[in-house]
Amino acid sequence: MSGGQIAVHDVDTARLRMEELARRVEHHRFQYYVLDAPEISDAAFDDLYRELIALEEKFPDLKSPNSPTMRVGAPPNTEFKQVKHRVPMLSLSNAMSNEDLEKWEERIVKGLDRPVDEAKQLAFACELKIDGLSIALTYKKGEFVEGATRGDGEVGEDVTLNLKTISVMPQALTPLPVTADGRILLAGEATDQPGVTMRVPDLVEVRGEVYMPVSAFQTLNEALLDNNEPGLANPRNAAAGSLRQKNPRNTAKRRLALFAYFVYVTDELIKQPPTHVESLDFLKRLGLPVEKNHEVVHGAAAVKNYCDKWGAARHGLDYQTDGVVVKLDDRSLWSELGHTSHSPRWAIAYKYPPEEAETVLEDVQFEVGRTGAVTPVAILSPVRLAGTTVKRASLHNSDQIARLDVRIGDTVIVRKAGDIIPEILSVNPSKRKEDSLPFVYPTRCPVCDTLLAREGDEVAVRCPNTYGCLSQRERRLKHWVSRDAMDIEGVGEVLVAEFVKNDLVNRPSDFYKLTIDKLMALPRMGLKSVEKALKNIEGSKTRPLSRVINALGIRHVGTTMAELLAERYPSIESLRNASVSELAAIEGVGPVLAETIVSFFLEPQVNVLIDELKQLGVRMEDDVEERNANALPQTLAGKIFVITGTLEKLDRAEAEKAVKDRGGKATSSVSKNTSYLVAGASAGSKLGKAQQLNVPVLTEDEFLELLAAE
Ligand code: IVH
Repeated sequence: MSGGQIAVHDVDTARLRMEELARRVEHHRFQYYVLDAPEISDAAFDDLYRELIALEEKFPDLKSPNSPTMRVGAPPNTEFKQVKHRVPMLSLSNAMSNEDLEKWEERIVKGLDRPVDEAKQLAFACELKIDGLSIALTYKKGEFVEGATRGDGEVGEDVTLNLKTISVMPQALTPLPVTADGRILLAGEATDQPGVTMRVPDLVEVRGEVYMPVSAFQTLNEALLDNNEPGLANPRNAAAGSLRQKNPRNTAKRRLALFAYFVYVTDELIKQPPTHVESLDFLKRLGLPVEKNHEVVHGAAAVKNYCDKWGAARHGLDYQTDGVVVKLDDRSLWSELGHTSHSPRWAIAYKYPPEEAETVLEDVQFEVGRTGAVTPVAILSPVRLAGTTVKRASLHNSDQIARLDVRIGDTVIVRKAGDIIPEILSVNPSKRKEDSLPFVYPTRCPVCDTLLAREGDEVAVRCPNTYGCLSQRERRLKHWVSRDAMDIEGVGEVLVAEFVKNDLVNRPSDFYKLTIDKLMALPRMGLKSVEKALKNIEGSKTRPLSRVINALGIRHVGTTMAELLAERYPSIESLRNASVSELAAIEGVGPVLAETIVSFFLEPQVNVLIDELKQLGVRMEDDVEERNANALPQTLAGKIFVITGTLEKLDRAEAEKAVKDRGGKATSSVSKNTSYLVAGASAGSKLGKAQQLNVPVLTEDEFLELLAAE
């Protein structure tokens, strides 16, 4: 029996079994309906479901009103339910300076009624303040049951389904060794003492911060900008937007992460650890991600040192921090001090000063992208800001320039929006020169002098001279050779610019007409690099169709869309002949994009280019048979893998892809359904969980052997 059906004789066994079945049915429904990523076969799901119905019929009194049998399917949530927080989510009061920190320490010393000398040496837990959005997670009997945003502190929004898509978030907690009187054993303590049992708390409330790693934010923004969609201001906004998606499938596409920083245990058998730092360790051992750079220090001066140390170092982390949160480490002092209606008295947020600087706007230059969008770029007198020297800043668009009334020669305030993209925040009017003139936005393309146009209600101003404008041409050629497009190694942006300058390449087909002689005539080109470039250009002729589609640079068609189109249309001919209605019917395309694609293929220049490329031997179709033949034998079909720790020969994404390519599934949390756990170096709680559930554990080498097996 695939559901692991068990004989049920008494009410207690029935209750337990029904609870488990309900949980499993809920879980698999979520995987199936919401994420489109089922982990078990339909038949296995039906078994679980039928077993639950049978038990509910036999024990009607035990049937829960929330039973999954009461609902049909699990369509994506469209409205966020309101959730009242069990413990209100307070905010923190801020310290903006050393002085504020010292005053806070003084208030604590007074409030605690201790001898001053003793109080002056209080232990403070210092943590980085993660700039994301705070979240409350509820785990019951070790299972994640509910997650909510902060909202107004009393009532938040239920974002459980979206949180379930965050790969680092455990769906189940790892049991820990607990003594008979409820003390959680420390990491090194022997567990084979009398009375020690492995437990998860009955009810824990975890508080933490959901954030978007800086690297994920940058990738996301590049993709958005590539598709001419507005970029996001900073990782915090990106995280907030991603977490509040109506459809969890969209949240799942964003790489969100989480740090837990707080725990409330409500349990008869497990006691809350006595200090904050031990609570952090407890969270970590339960399987929750905890930021590792926290420290316990004594006295306000040491707190200040910690803040200073991280003021600069924080820019090297893959998450944004806007300050340091300082908490009294001894939790018993918390109730002694209490809280105001807004914030606890035993904690404070030291905020780093905003990353802003004053400098002079020397010039405004205009860049013309490959789709003709004209974007203003501020050229600044170099200024140090948040770890880098800033010389350029985005001015976004003409509306922004008008709104700021920024003029050349003005003293401006630049800020790194979320510390990453510098932008002009405002003008310092007191430093404006008397003879300054309002900025006049160009009406003609700065590169080809064509009259600029604004399309519909777009904010972007475009140069409509698609094929004549040198800048657009050059950008398109650079896109053609780029990594995600035809991936021509040895032909980078600098070389493409050189080709254009020397009139060797005007459109992509010209790459395939280059010869040794032509290239050797260029300055600074040796025979070796020429041969390499030509070999790689030749090699690019057999790229898969999806790359060609991407390389053509259809507006709003990036890597993913190109793959989708190539899957549907195995040749450029079939795509070129597709109708608007046919394209619009493809899930993920829609009418606007369909229209864009069809009009792209109606342009005479595009057709000349495609024909020429074909003639030059660029393959513009996928061999469907070959595509299928290239598919690996599905040796891992039906197997569910969890990959944890650091692997040496593959990175995690490669390992997961290798599993998927062979028909298997890679998930992030260990459960009874897991077929194998692949454990790399410093594997954490997942390893413990796998051992406890008797899930086979593979080393990296064993995993590679399994992949190689026919
Ligand atoms: S503790 C009683 N610790 O900062 C409040 N908060 O400005 C307990 N935050 O709402 C919060 N990192 O969203 C705490 N290590 C950390 C934090 C942190 C970021 C956020 C949190 C809070 C806000 C207060």
